[in-house]
Amino acid sequence: MEKVLDVREMVPRDRHARIFELYRSLKPGESFTLVNDHEPKPLLYQFQAEHDGEFDWWTLEAGPEAWRVSIVKRERPNPDITITDYLQTDHRRLDTIFEGFKAAVKESRWEDAARGFREFSLGLKRHIRIEEDILFPVFEEKTGMRDAGPTFVMRMEHKEIQALLDRILGATDGHDAAGAEAGSSNLLGILLDHNMKEEHILYPESDAFITGSERAMVIKKAQAA
Ligand SMILES: [Fe+2]
Ligand SMILES: [Fe+2]
Repeated sequence: MEKVLDVREMVPRDRHARIFELYRSLKPGESFTLVNDHEPKPLLYQFQAEHDGEFDWWTLEAGPEAWRVSIVKRERPNPDITITDYLQTDHRRLDTIFEGFKAAVKESRWEDAARGFREFSLGLKRHIRIEEDILFPVFEEKTGMRDAGPTFVMRMEHKEIQALLDRILGATDGHDAAGAEAGSSNLLGILLDHNMKEEHILYPESDAFITGSERAMVIKKAQAA
């Protein structure tokens, strides 16, 4: 079971100490979910300053009442992590959440399904925003490829993906198993091929075209997105 640290009832000045205490007690590869009552940006910046390259930071819920972030102590610290590694890890993480959602639909556990799908949808929309607003502009600038390049195709597919997310959400909230399953298999059909193109072409090319310090900057911005 994932550890959960809910700091909402703690006095604010104790919060960071408790969070870093728990983080330091983790074994490599372990993680915990932090629950807070506001967006924990200052905490992220403190992690980036004190534990650069040692952790992953994935937003699970973004308000308005609760913010939940999964904080992972990486198996191996890697300050020079590539864009391919970073975004591929996010693809795998989202795949796992999506599998959980599909299992919940199959067993008519609608509350779990709704929670799982919201987490998946938030994560995937955030992932797309990171690609479109942070990574693609750097890629386009470096390669000069815009209107006919790979990012153009990816942006079109992102539109289809986001439309499907909204459709599946509607089906899930309406407890419509057939609709949720049909939407899910459509989405998987697009995502498999989309992620493969990114992991085999776009991400490695991005890693090759930009410098190490630009790469680190892209990943820091991605964590804060
Ligand atoms: Fe994408
Ligand atoms: Fe992606």
